[in-house]
Formats: sequence, C-alpha cells, structure tokens
Amino acid sequence: MMTIPVHVPVLLQEVLDNLVLPPAARILDLTLGLGGHAEALLARCDKEARYLGVDRDPEARYQARRRLGDDARLEILACAYEDLWDDARFLAWKAESAPGGFDAILADLGVSTLQLRSPERGFSFRDEGPLDMRMDTTSGPTAVEWIAEQTDESLADAIYQYGEERASRPIARAILRAHREGRLATTKDLAEAVYTVIPREPAKRKGHSDPATRTFQAIRIAVNGELDRLAAALEAAAGHLRPGGRLAVISFHSLEDRIVKQTLRRLAGIYDGPGRTAPAVLPKTLKLIHPGGLAPSEAEAAANPPSRSARLRVAERLP
Ligand SMILES: C[S@@+](CC[C@H](N)C(=O)[O-])C[C@H]1O[C@@H](n2cnc3c(N)ncnc32)[C@H](O)[C@@H]1O
Repeated sequence: MMTIPVHVPVLLQEVLDNLVLPPAARILDLTLGLGGHAEALLARCDKEARYLGVDRDPEARYQARRRLGDDARLEILACAYEDLWDDARFLAWKAESAPGGFDAILADLGVSTLQLRSPERGFSFRDEGPLDMRMDTTSGPTAVEWIAEQTDESLADAIYQYGEERASRPIARAILRAHREGRLATTKDLAEAVYTVIPREPAKRKGHSDPATRTFQAIRIAVNGELDRLAAALEAAAGHLRPGGRLAVISFHSLEDRIVKQTLRRLAGIYDGPGRTAPAVLPKTLKLIHPGGLAPSEAEAAANPPSRSARLRVAERLP
C-alpha cells in the first residue's frame, strides 16, 4: 500500500491567531493542499460555516477530501487561484454562500510535502522519477517538455531569476546538452547535469545544501508559472474580503515573499517606488497587521525543517 507523505501545516498557530473567525465564518483557502490548515480552521467554526478549498492538484484534492471526510461545510474546487476570480463556479458559490465577502482568505504558497516526496511527481532530486514537476498533472508541459522549448539564454535566465543561481549559464548549457544527447528523462538526470557544473561532494562535505536545489526550485517555478500572476491574485483576493476580513499569505522563499510584501504594502497605500513621495495618493484597501511578517518559532523550525524559510503576512480589509 502506498503511504501518503505527511504534510505538517506551517505556522498553524499563527494562522489561527490572526484569522479572526466568527462561528459561521466564510473562508476561502486558495491552496487547500492536504487540508491541514482547513481542518484546524473548520474546528474553530460551527456547522453554519462555509469553507471553499481551491487546489490545482488532483491528488491534493483527493487527499483533502479523504482527510476531511464528508464535512458538508467544505466545498472543493479544481482551479488555479489565478484563474479563480472570474470562474463561474466560484462566482456562483460565493453568491450563494458568502455574498457579503469572506471573513478569511488563506494562501499557503508553493509545493506540499505530498508533491515533494512523491517520486512519480518529479519534484525532487532525492528520489528518481520522471521529470514532470507539474502541480496540475492534467495540463501544461512537463518539466522536460518545458526544457526542450528553451534556448541556452532563456533557460539560464529562468535558473538565475527563479533560483538565484550564479552558475546559471553553464548549468543551462549542461542541461540542454544532456537533453540533446537523450540523457534527460528523470530527476536524477537533471541533478547529474547540475553536478557536472557544481560537483556534489564538496558541498556535502561543507554541509551546504545540494547544488541541484536552486535549479530544481527555478524549473519548478517556471513550469508552474508560480510567480507570474501572484500579485494580481492577491489583489483580487483582497477585493473579496468583507470589511474587517483578513488575508493571510505564507511564502517559502525570498522571491515569493518579496511579491507578497510589495503587493500588500501597495494595497495598504504604502509607496515603495523610487524617490521620497508617492506620485499620487494611493488607494488604501488593506491595513497591515504584522508589517514585518511572522516567522516560525524555533520550536516549529526544529520540529518541521521545511517550515524554516516560511513567512506569514497578514492584512485586514478596511471598511
Ligand atoms: C503548501 S501546500 C498547502 C498545504 C495546506 N495548507 C495544508 O495544510 O495541507 C500548497 C498547495 O497549493 C497548491 N497550489 C500551488 N499553486 C497553486 C495555484 N496557483 N492554484 C491552486 N493551487 C495551487 C499546490 O498544489 C499545493 O497542494
């Protein structure tokens, strides 16, 4: 029997403390995953509450439904959150169940442990699997198909931009060489191409992270378009909160966090552009609750190492 990797919800207590819920709360979860946050949030509500959980990964939706059983308060929607806002199913659900807007919206960004630890999904260099990396396994190019469409320059740019990898150019050339020679089908093949540029052993001896980490992150972000429409999605989400409702966003790396931070600050009317003064008065729709964001406690980081890089940002909809 296949064992399902456990995904421990990150910053759970902080999410519960910061999303202020009435008993019959209306909650929108943009990244339902395995339903860890959903389970804890629903436990705080009464039977009149309504919870809309969105995920683009069919396996995640299946596992979340298994976890939450036949809880009638939960509706699960197959959708990418970028595409949610004019989706007829979303609009119909909202009109019926949350016409006044949401009390809480949660976005716990990135990949789940289920995705990372399932070799057949191809997200990780730790186990050999097909080079796939799609969150939505039903559409879009796989990682190897995406790589096949790149040039040395475009691949290097993606690895540099999304992985902050300084050796992006030689790595891109090594990956495309492996592809041309028919040696790029699995996660191990991709990792081996990276190791031809940055050997693995010295990094291991020095206790550094695996040299393939940044390249895998970059290709995963590119294949799933993870940062492309994040800012627009957060802005749309803020528009669906009721006055006093709260938006909580958990990010896992600096690129993601920068987008979240800048978007929430802009919606809070804070000018971050060049020069000292804003060109015009910025409209304010949100108030920042923890302007610097919240990081996991030392205890959480020790108990759940993937949480170490997480940051939670919370903002409240103004009247
Ligand atoms: C970190 S996990 C969420 C874990 C969840 N909070 C829990 O406690 O189980 C992120 C989830 O978001 C989903 N996801 C990532 N980007 C998405 C997008 N653009 N639209 C919809 N779902 C997305 C992934 O498929 C994954 O299941």
